[in-house]
Amino acid sequence: MLYAGIDLGTSSVKLLLMDEKGDIKKIVTREYDCQFPHPGWSEQDPYVWYEESIKGLKELVADCDKSQVAGISFGGQMHGLVILDEEDRVIRPAILWNDSRTTEENDYLNNTIGKETLSKYTANISFTGFTASKILWVRNKEPENFARIKKIMLPKDYLAYRLTGVNCTDYSDASGMLLLDVANKRWSKEMCEICHITEDMLPTLYESYEKVGCLLPEVAEELGLSEKVIVAAGAGDNAAAAVATGTVGEGNCNLSLGTSGTVFISSQKFGVDDNNALHSFDAADGGFHLMGCMLSAASCNKWWMDEIIGTKDYAAEQKDITKLGENHVYFLPYLMGERSPYNDPYARGTFIGMTMDTTRADMTQAVLEGVAFALRDSIEVARSLGIHIDASKICGGGAKSPLWKTIIANVLNIRLDILKTEEGPSMGGAMLAAVANGEYASVEDAAKAIVEVVDHVEPTPELAAKYEARYQQFKQVYPTVKALFPHLQ
Ligand code: XUL
Repeated sequence: MLYAGIDLGTSSVKLLLMDEKGDIKKIVTREYDCQFPHPGWSEQDPYVWYEESIKGLKELVADCDKSQVAGISFGGQMHGLVILDEEDRVIRPAILWNDSRTTEENDYLNNTIGKETLSKYTANISFTGFTASKILWVRNKEPENFARIKKIMLPKDYLAYRLTGVNCTDYSDASGMLLLDVANKRWSKEMCEICHITEDMLPTLYESYEKVGCLLPEVAEELGLSEKVIVAAGAGDNAAAAVATGTVGEGNCNLSLGTSGTVFISSQKFGVDDNNALHSFDAADGGFHLMGCMLSAASCNKWWMDEIIGTKDYAAEQKDITKLGENHVYFLPYLMGERSPYNDPYARGTFIGMTMDTTRADMTQAVLEGVAFALRDSIEVARSLGIHIDASKICGGGAKSPLWKTIIANVLNIRLDILKTEEGPSMGGAMLAAVANGEYASVEDAAKAIVEVVDHVEPTPELAAKYEARYQQFKQVYPTVKALFPHLQ
């Protein structure tokens, strides 16, 4: 049988078709834009998501035996607010995970309602990217839109709704709304009240690997697929990537280098970081995870290459980088503010330390290193909680660069396990569909059968020591310049 995974990302939708053994048959990517109507705002049109996903699905199954396609599921960009009116029309563009307009509402939640109260209800505190502050923003700034809300959903759930007619979400993605009681896997009545919404506006909750329905007849016809094709709830993109990289069960780690950068630590037991610097979310295997999320990771390199240097040949730029660990330029990768561990929507990208002999390669190197140092910030929080990390999987677009992987392994001083495929959320989505269709008894079983480590990147003591010294310098830059950022708006 064949299974399709749809990774509804921020820069593109990526669709992957695999067989029940996990052999990839085809990958299709369809790019789209993100709108930044004001500094710090980030929006997309859910209709574009749907149109591009349908076009992508058609292309994905164009040359396979369509009668073999048995299931579809998702990994989706998390936290985005999608609101529908009583006729299921999208009320306004979706407000995305990396949007930081809700500073006022975020302060209200964290300071007036209070972090302790939020953590008691949801296991998390508020971040501008999380959905709850966006709901309050629409209420405060666009009351006419707020009054029309009949359904509230997350990005991938809009696709599931259009494909099946079922208003569903899964626990991993719902965790990032700040509306879910993560420990008990139910919507928080208190949070609904705080956000002035009712529970019937929210989707029905499923495990990621559960079937939510089948393709609607008109959708099946358009795709040339059977109406029996099942659709599984899917997961937030990081939780789906965790499935694809075998980061399931207890104490495993995955790094994702996409538009965002995340450190994902799987756990069988529910747990909260006392300072809430890491998110405490449900996972796609039925368990839990802790996660640190930086808002701009591979997107920093993309910005530096595409917008500033003006090249598409990323590998050629990296060839000139020869002095690892010896750069005196530092880069703070906070192009969209920062989430973990600082929760600072005002933070901005910063280069510091240039001299007349600084080269273009030094600046490129500083960008790659700055992202690695910022990932280390989240790893340090995990280490401070007594979590021992000596190895990690890695996935996402940035993981294609051997140089970046060497930098990361040495900055974090851990071994990176390289997988046969570095496809994250799309592969995870397809695997969840396979589990929902009974190919595997559990997500963990699917991961054991499908995920294959083919190589390792080991840190070397000499380079790790150089990067240790540089990380100690990097750590001082943000606290030193932090007070300036709110004045630069
Ligand atoms: C996770 C997060 C990002 C987005 C990116 O909390 O906000 O990783 O899911 O798509």
